[in-house]
Amino acid sequence: MSATTPTRAGAPVRVAGLGVRLPDRVVTNDDLAKVLDTSDEWIRTRTGIRQRHVAAPGEATSDLAAAAATAALDDAGLTVADVTAIIVATTTPDHTIPGTAPLVAARLGSEAAAFDVNAACSGFIYGLRVAAGMSATGDGAVLVIGAETLTRVVDPTDRSVAVLFGDGAGAVVLVPDDTASFGPFSLGADGSEPSMLWTASGGTRRPVDAVVLEEGSHFLTMRGGDVYRNAVSRMAQGARTVLEEAGIGVEDVDLFVGHQANVRILDAVASRLGLPSERNHVAVDRHGNTSAASIPLALADARDQGRLHDGDTVLLAAFGAGLTWGAGLLTWKDTP
Ligand code: COA
Repeated sequence: MSATTPTRAGAPVRVAGLGVRLPDRVVTNDDLAKVLDTSDEWIRTRTGIRQRHVAAPGEATSDLAAAAATAALDDAGLTVADVTAIIVATTTPDHTIPGTAPLVAARLGSEAAAFDVNAACSGFIYGLRVAAGMSATGDGAVLVIGAETLTRVVDPTDRSVAVLFGDGAGAVVLVPDDTASFGPFSLGADGSEPSMLWTASGGTRRPVDAVVLEEGSHFLTMRGGDVYRNAVSRMAQGARTVLEEAGIGVEDVDLFVGHQANVRILDAVASRLGLPSERNHVAVDRHGNTSAASIPLALADARDQGRLHDGDTVLLAAFGAGLTWGAGLLTWKDTP
């Protein structure tokens, strides 16, 4: 049932394939409690996280991304030769220069357009927005990969952040399809307070030197409470905007796949929207916060659990450092 008159349609694009790569090593809350002043009980009750995957020494973001992309192409029944662009959403690139996407493209054997999107934890939705536009306007099959090794930029001795993050990658292949719809999207950013969630040093503002290493200011820090409040309000705001623009109500949403930072944030967003909890997909318990990888990982997880059906309306929403936020509506189509 339509709630309002639609003002924006989605792009005629569908997800043709989904693929993931989670590092082999699983670190449980009890494992962390052996080396940090924390407990399984604290982590579970504050975040819903039970375990996370951690990249092996030497395993970088592009390694995870390439594996997820290969799986997504296999899933779509396509080869890399079919792909015209490769977008990697990441905030933990292999190197500052070059971007991670060209490395992934080379690994896949492609000379297609390849570029990174850094919108932190919202990066995958930003990447999808760009890819949907490209795919719908002549570029054909486009790969979007969310890939992160957040555990590399977190101080392992800082319990306030070390327990929250995990590593992983998820990828989708978007293809044009006149019978499908991806969007509308709503994206936003407020960069007036970057220190709410950031790595203070290690960029051009303050390059790494001996003092930075001594104080550890190249590690990620955040004001958890402020991040929490903004995450809830911005994700709900983005979600309301896309529902309104699509002219549908929350009762029309079959599944909500939000950025998997914290189960309490997901619950609070669902509650603000009036969305029943059984339509809120949770994967953060097993993945931790994997930033730009969290939505494709959760989407694949939902499909594995039989929660995505042909024609379903899926609401995506994310929030991240920047601040950045975004939401989008996907009509799920089973691959013919
Ligand atoms: N184990 C045990 N205690 C911890 C801890 C840990 N891993 N991390 C912090 N604490 C302590 C703090 O030192 C503080 O102690 P104090 O009160 O003695 O100073 C206390 O726990 C804070 O507890 P509380 O205020 O109840 O925490 P919270 O309910 O605000 O939860 C977060 C903290 C970080 C889980 C929560 O703010 C959050 O999820 N924020 C968003 C984080 C996020 O998702 N970031 C990425 C967004 S993309």
